[in-house]
Amino acid sequence: MALERTLSILKPDATQRNITGQINAVLENAGFKIVAQKRLQLSAAQAGAFYAVHKERPFYGELVAFMTSGPVVVQVLERDNAVAAYRDVMGATNPANAAEGTIRKMFAESIERNSVHGSDSLENAANEIAFFFSGLEIVA
Ligand code: RTP
Ligand code: MG
Repeated sequence: MALERTLSILKPDATQRNITGQINAVLENAGFKIVAQKRLQLSAAQAGAFYAVHKERPFYGELVAFMTSGPVVVQVLERDNAVAAYRDVMGATNPANAAEGTIRKMFAESIERNSVHGSDSLENAANEIAFFFSGLEIVA
């Protein structure tokens, strides 16, 4: 398996409940190395651009409002097969459908307040990492 990097966001419901450390512990126990991390307050323009793929979806406005409702922690995670492995560790979008042991099963409050974002393909991971980080900020 190839060493990959994926973009993770610990969402405002996680920073508001002060559980970013608990989520990071799950990530590290699952073999991910946090090779970059910073805490940001996203603007509506930034959140809207990041989630532009969902622009036509009915929940887009609420999603942008939620993602700007408090700080987020953006991270680059490195591991073998990181993109798919992180989607597995995150669990289903709706925590009601998430498997035992996944981050969303353990921590998510609802389908929207679901604690974490993870890139859904290697190509999107590269684009999303470049959206938030310069090469100098990523240290393996
Ligand atoms: P993410 O992009 O955040 O990693 O989540 P995902 O792939 O599992 O889900 P996606 O379909 O890409 O949706 C992005 C985020 O939008 C919010 N959402 N709300 N109210 C709703 O029906 C609804 N559906 C999705 C969630 O915060 C979801 O993670
Ligand atoms: Mg998604």
